[in-house]
Amino acid sequence: MSQNVWTEVDNYICGLLAPNDPALEAALKASEAAGLPAIQVSATQGKFLYLLACLMRAGNILELGTLGGYSTIWLARALPPKGRLITVDANPKHTEVARSNVAFAGLSDRVEFRVGPGLDVLPQLEREGRGPFDFIFIDANKSDMPEYFAWALRLSHPGSLIIADNVIRDGKVLDASTVDADIQGVRRFNQRLADEKTVSATELQTVGSKGYDGFAMAVVLADA
Ligand code: DHB
Ligand code: MG
Repeated sequence: MSQNVWTEVDNYICGLLAPNDPALEAALKASEAAGLPAIQVSATQGKFLYLLACLMRAGNILELGTLGGYSTIWLARALPPKGRLITVDANPKHTEVARSNVAFAGLSDRVEFRVGPGLDVLPQLEREGRGPFDFIFIDANKSDMPEYFAWALRLSHPGSLIIADNVIRDGKVLDASTVDADIQGVRRFNQRLADEKTVSATELQTVGSKGYDGFAMAVVLADA
């Protein structure tokens, strides 16, 4: 059992429950054509994020890591007509591709793009009085994950849902002596998640077309 089976099963489930429609298909194609790395969430994961945002009745979403806007489209589709999603990426080229993809998906009125390193943009958002956010998706560079989580908490309210992608990394997360800054970032994030008293959290390992990885989920507690 490994990658081939995971991919075929993912394609099977995707065909049944999360088929890519023209807007998502176009977003993937345009991202590839622009040379963006194909590290966006899979279709089944995108549908999962969409369902979580629906379940939260999220009206105000924050996404860290725009890339080509594929997950942005899934998440923005869960918003009510007056809902807002702010998506942040350090790379202006990513944002340009995503802006076009989101426009093609008919979601430009709900999505605001912010360009800059997350740790620069997040304090700006706080100063501007943006948030609190109902749903925060952390999927940017992994080395700053613990700091993104701290900011997510500052910009949340009791009941907010924080999801982080890529917390397992093929099991590399077990390696306490790793010199890989990304894995170190994920490990520091996991420890901070464990130490944080204001959330209840878990992590789910996932396999599929994107390999073996996982999502963290944290709910901000009522008395936070
Ligand atoms: C990488 C980043 C991601 O967000 C992801 O889902 C997979 C891989 C990366 O930086 O390698
Ligand atoms: Mg990711």
